[in-house]
Order: sequence, then C-alpha cells, then structure tokens
Amino acid sequence: MEKKVFIETYGCQMNVYDSELVKTILAEKNYSLVPVESMANIIMINTCTVRENADRKVLNRVHQIKNSRNKNEIIIVGILGCMATNFKTKLLENPNLKIDFIAGPDSYKQLPQLIDTAWEKGDKSFDVTLSEFETYSDILPTRKEGVNAWIAIMRGCNNFCTFCVVPYTRGRERSREPANILHEVRQLVSEGFSQITLLGQNVNSYRYDGVDFTDLIQMVSDIKGVKRIRYTSPHPKDFPEKLLKVMSERDNICKQLHMPLQSGNTRILDKMNRTYTKEEFLSLINLTRQYMPNANISTDIIIGFPTETENEFEDTVDVVQKVKFDSAFIFKYSERPNTRAAKKFPDDISDSIKTQRIIKLNEIQNQISLNKNKAQIGLNQKVLIEALETKRSKNEFQARNDGNQIVILPKSNLSIGQYITIKINDATRNILKGSYIN
Ligand code: SAH
Ligand code: SF4
Ligand code: F3S
Repeated sequence: MEKKVFIETYGCQMNVYDSELVKTILAEKNYSLVPVESMANIIMINTCTVRENADRKVLNRVHQIKNSRNKNEIIIVGILGCMATNFKTKLLENPNLKIDFIAGPDSYKQLPQLIDTAWEKGDKSFDVTLSEFETYSDILPTRKEGVNAWIAIMRGCNNFCTFCVVPYTRGRERSREPANILHEVRQLVSEGFSQITLLGQNVNSYRYDGVDFTDLIQMVSDIKGVKRIRYTSPHPKDFPEKLLKVMSERDNICKQLHMPLQSGNTRILDKMNRTYTKEEFLSLINLTRQYMPNANISTDIIIGFPTETENEFEDTVDVVQKVKFDSAFIFKYSERPNTRAAKKFPDDISDSIKTQRIIKLNEIQNQISLNKNKAQIGLNQKVLIEALETKRSKNEFQARNDGNQIVILPKSNLSIGQYITIKINDATRNILKGSYIN
C-alpha cells in the first residue's frame, strides 16, 4: 500500500522549518506527501511543549484523529518535535492516545525506519536522543512557494532560562557551517525567494570557526538578489553593538528586531536566569534606536512568574511604557516539568492574578501598538508583496513592510515578490492599509 503522509505543525518557526526538512527526508524514501489529513494513512504532528496549553492543543488533536478513524482503515499516528523529547515514551505508553511512533527534533533522519517499524510490524517505535552535532546541513527543506524562506543557522539552546523547556527538548547549541548556509541562500535566490529569515533559539550564540552572527549576516547580505534579511531570536544579554551598526548600514537587512524582555523587574529577571537587569535592557533599546530610530521592536513577556509581586509587575508595565514596543506577545507563566523553576519555585501566583495582570498589560500594549501604527499614516514605505488575496477578501493584496507588519493593498497587476514603495493611509492595531503611488 502506498504510504501517504500528512504533517501538521505547531509551535515556533523552527518547527515550521523542521517539518520542511522532514518532507524532504520522507520524499527521498518514496513516501507521498498529501495536502489534507483525509488523504493520509500516516499522520504526523510536529509539536510544541513550551506552555501547558501547547500540550493540550496537541493532545486534543490526537484524540480527534483517533475518534475520527474508521475501524477498518490503517492509520498510524506519530508525534514529532518538542513533546517527543519532553515526554518521551510516556506518550507511547498512554493507551488512550494510541500513538504509534515518536521522534525528537534530532531524530528526523531515523523517521523512515521508525515509520517502517510501526507500519510493517505494528510495533511502537521511538527515537528521542538529542545530538551535539546534527544540524541537517545536508538536507534541503521542501519549502512552500512564497517570498520568505527560513534557514536554521543554529539549533538548540544553552541558556537555561529557569522557566523554559527548550534546552531540554532541543538539546545543546550547535551552529551550521557558513559556506553551507551561503550556498543555500544563493540557491534560494535563484529559485525566486526574495526574503531570507535566519533562525535560531538564540542567534547571537552563532559561532563557527571564528565566524559570529554579525559576520554571517554580512555575508548573507552581500549575496546578490537577497532583497530582505530578517532573523529571530536574539537574546538581550549578549547583543553586540556591531550588529546594530551593520543592520543600520545595510539596506537589505530589515530594521526589525524581536527582543524578548520576559520581565521588567531585575529580581525576577535574576530568578529567570536572564542575566540582564531592567536598566541594561532599557539601554540596549536606547542604543538600538540611536542606530535605527524607526526600528520595529517586538518582544515576549511572561507575567506571574513565581513570587512576582504587584510592584514587580509594575516594573514590567514601566518598561513597556518606556520602550513602546511595536508589538508584544504576553504569556501567563506556565510551569513546565523538569525546568529549574519547576524544581525550585512553586507556581504561587493564582490564575486570577495572572489574568488581571495579562489583561492590564495587553490593554496598555494594544493602545501603544495602535498609536504607533496610526503615526505611520501618510508615510511612504517599501513593501514586499506576499499574497494576491487576503483572509478577508479576494480583491486585496497582502504585503509586508520593513518592520514585518502586514500592509493591505488594493488588487492590481503586480505579482508576488515585487518590492515597491506605497503610501500608508489607514491603520488598526494589527494592520496597515496602503495605496499605490506613481
Ligand atoms: N528562544 C526564544 C524563546 C523561545 S520560547 C527566545 O529566547 O527568545 C518563546 C517564548 O515563550 C519565550 O520568549 C517566553 O516568553 C515564552 N515562554 C517560554 N517558557 C514559558 C513558560 N514556562 N511559561 C510562559 N511562557 C513561556
Ligand atoms: Fe528558552 Fe531562554 Fe533558550 Fe530562549 S534563551 S530558548 S527562553 S532557555
Ligand atoms: Fe515550542 Fe519547541 Fe519551538 S517547545 S516554541 S516548538 S522550540
């Protein structure tokens, strides 16, 4: 019987990229990749476990798949990604889940054998070992057509922020060879991708034979035909000034930064093992704005970390008000098994206090985002066209500005990948609207 695979992806961009690697690995072994679940006999879920609700979403999906199975149909279900390394064989042992195989983020080359074991012999199979070396540099991802291509330049994380499960699910930091990355960028340009996004859990830790992240981004920027470069995520603790300088000098590096704050209070930052203070974070933002006054800066914030007092939460509010991030992802602290915080600090902030704090902070941030977007009305901006319709309408195009914000434009005879100057004439909290100038 033909093996037909459907992959569903949750979590961060690294998982999106990994699913593209998995597609290549399976296609080389003659598996067919199908676009919808109903056509598949092998269903794989690439999972995230960063917060409890991420686990819940995946487990609900697994139950749904199980319940919709026709009793006579053979369908096998596999769990990939961060839940696989976080929960290991517990996932296979749970009889309610009926999962057939699991593979962690460093085990994707083993997938054909793992699937075969589950398929031919009906045995449950797993590989969740983490590697110090695997970077999949020999595999070219099966990318979706479009304007943006992700390239993972490093994998894993050694920072061990106390709340975070990623160092356990993805293992130790390792960087990919520059020559290999540059080769892939050249190939992507020749295939028509205009934007390259360099990915890593902590891109400032990139290092290969003396080449650091600033060196690498310059080499990528020098490649002819790369219209736009983005990257995510840096860590505020070791953010080099020379990177800000390079970003400010080069037209094809977007003036956009995701700078995760997590908390605005120095005592909480210390308990989180973030290794910077409130003041250091604020000066890094000031320095960024000296080099790039209009840089689009987004952030991640956790509220309700163990022992966070009302006054300490107000420090986070204070940083949000001072910095005026363009956007922020704000999360309630979620205790993750095995992390240092779970072992050392009881999750002692009640859900109702977390809810109050997240509502307050979101209201403040939403107002800031709206004001910042409204302030762009009347400006001319360069945008890259990325879709010839929007979620809401077939008569609109979707484009993106340098700051990574969505700009809606009227339908025209332009095509995907064109890089043009438009004028912003309307704005909401999430979206800008533009018109053509000629
Ligand atoms: N490597 C990235 C973060 C990956 S996780 C970085 O350092 O920027 C993405 C975000 O999830 C984090 O920035 C953090 O804000 C949030 N997060 C991680 N663990 C969490 C937890 N236990 N509870 C709530 N939010 C969490
Ligand atoms: Fe998690 Fe911290 Fe590493 Fe980011 S830097 S992945 S938050 S441990
Ligand atoms: Fe989630 Fe793993 Fe990414 S836990 S956020 S999918 S690194």
